[in-house]
Amino acid sequence: MKKITHAVIPVAGFGTRMLPLSKAVPKELLPLGNRPAIHYVVEEAIAAGIKHIVLVGHAQKSAIENYFDINAELDNQLRHKGKDELADSLNWLPKDVTISMIRQGQALGLGHAVLAARPIIGEHDFAVLLPDVVLDPFTTDLQSDNLAFMLNEFTQNGYSQILVDKVADEEVSKYGIAKLSADTNFEDITTDITTVNASFKVAGFVEKPSLADAPSRLAVVGRYVFSNRIFDYLANTKASVGGEIQLTDAIDALISQQGVEVTTMLGNSYDAGDMQSYMQAFIYFAQQQL
Ligand code: G1P
Repeated sequence: MKKITHAVIPVAGFGTRMLPLSKAVPKELLPLGNRPAIHYVVEEAIAAGIKHIVLVGHAQKSAIENYFDINAELDNQLRHKGKDELADSLNWLPKDVTISMIRQGQALGLGHAVLAARPIIGEHDFAVLLPDVVLDPFTTDLQSDNLAFMLNEFTQNGYSQILVDKVADEEVSKYGIAKLSADTNFEDITTDITTVNASFKVAGFVEKPSLADAPSRLAVVGRYVFSNRIFDYLANTKASVGGEIQLTDAIDALISQQGVEVTTMLGNSYDAGDMQSYMQAFIYFAQQQL
């Protein structure tokens, strides 16, 4: 199977959990230490070999597009003042990486946002990275390991990959939760989870279940590698949980046709879309950079 070089990053959310910070500044541009949160997510994609990134946004999110573009006036100004090093540091995107922006139109859910990228992704298989979730970039190589492992696994066996991590009981209702295949040994997975990436066949997902309905404690972290077929299922997915077109419903359809694996996550992830965890993440990132 061909190497995956395309990724979708949905950035259309209003960020209501981050108000008032996100009222005038897109939540994806809020700082984690000395960089906007989305900077780390784009770096993670590039480190794993992604070359074409599609941001799915809306009218109030053009600042994100500007962040990844060259600001010629600022560049000239800095160089004029002899601050070439600073100017160079702003042009960090590799020359062979392109970032495109497309708009979602109506905010009909995560599944709908991913489908909005179809005109740019075309026939390619692709990764999806949710920008609320930032993987720890300070632990050796972890930033690229998870996604690189998933991309490699997909190239080897053709199964779409969903990154999962074990969460506490009180957290299950915030996430998509994996239902493992009957022949998968849950103990093996949870033992492996901190030591090595591993992929297991998955039977389905339940989006934001109550604890009683949660089929496991393995939560969808926000990194996916999809066969292009997911677009066909997304196009036919109706609104469900929260009145939204859910990505998890399309994944369930994909499972029945092609098989899907969950990949266990290495290292820590930080939720930059929730005020409490954002503040903790900010302190951690700042401490690493001071
Ligand atoms: C989305 C997904 C969910 C996943 C979560 C990870 O939910 O629908 O399956 O577990 O991201 O952050 P959201 O947080 O957008 O409501």
